Amino acid sequence: MMTPVLRNLEMTILGLGFLGLAWGKNRLHGYTTPNRVEKSDSEGKVAYLLDIFASLRRFLPPQFDLRGRDVLELSPGASRGIGVLFLALGARSYHAIDAFDLAGGEDPAFYDRLLDRFPEGRKADRERARTIARTPGAREFDYAVGRDFDILRLAEGRSFDLIVSCAAFEHYDDPAATIAGLTQVARPGCESVHIIDLQTHSRWIRERDPNNIYRYPEPIYRLFSFPGQPNRQRPADYVRSFSAKGWSDVRFVPSLTIDPALRETSLRGLAAPFAGRDDMSILDGALTARYPGLGGDWGMAS
Ligand SMILES: C[S@@+](CC[C@H](N)C(=O)[O-])C[C@H]1O[C@@H](n2cnc3c(N)ncnc32)[C@H](O)[C@@H]1O
Repeated sequence: MMTPVLRNLEMTILGLGFLGLAWGKNRLHGYTTPNRVEKSDSEGKVAYLLDIFASLRRFLPPQFDLRGRDVLELSPGASRGIGVLFLALGARSYHAIDAFDLAGGEDPAFYDRLLDRFPEGRKADRERARTIARTPGAREFDYAVGRDFDILRLAEGRSFDLIVSCAAFEHYDDPAATIAGLTQVARPGCESVHIIDLQTHSRWIRERDPNNIYRYPEPIYRLFSFPGQPNRQRPADYVRSFSAKGWSDVRFVPSLTIDPALRETSLRGLAAPFAGRDDMSILDGALTARYPGLGGDWGMAS
């Protein structure tokens, strides 16, 4: 049997190959595949969106009422279906912002199929959701794309009561700047829920060595950098950045941790600054926060 040191050496060498593959794929095709569901797999897309939506709702405070709220989704990827579901529950509007135009050509007929599988919400709200979603250019169901991901500009004068994202924050070039941007469009009392996938993204190696991306010193990892390369921020980094911008009740709730059978090897042989951190067994989870916190100077007359 291979010793843990040899196994980690093997994973580190193989992982370099996967970093190179991800880099090469991006050079050839750009940012194209937001999740593992094929574009043509309508049923798979419905199941994926219902699953994500259920997770987002689970992390919302139980007393939070969606009725009449304005919702912002960051980086919806290939579908604005999450927005249709928010509208069906009575949200007033949904706006989505992305750096890549992955949802631009989405067929509005898909939203009907999605709603057919989501029996919740009042009849009037569900009908309104269907109507808005099939109205081209509706301000209550909008989408803005800009490679600079300038949230204030892309919000086009709106502000929001709820800001969500899924599998997006780990891709941001500068998460602290994104948090500063979303803070500028958050209304007092705004809730935020961000599902963040912290583990290695390349499939084969992710299953065997979920912390593989953390094995490389920054200069080596950045040799393979491309737009959207996982940024390797950890839960404590996100919590710090939200707190610094005046958000309160900032929490990172883990939803997946490393399988006990892989834990020892996964925590060994990591590069600085990841070695020895106490959050390295978290693979996935949600950052939740409310704006603003108590004691800040926001909203005070100047
Ligand atoms: C893994 S996809 C997730 C999409 C969708 N939320 C989902 O769950 O399928 C990552 C999302 O982040 C966006 N993204 C990737 N790199 C980005 C960057 N550097 N700045 C802003 N958005 C980025 C992509 O356009 C995409 O929408």
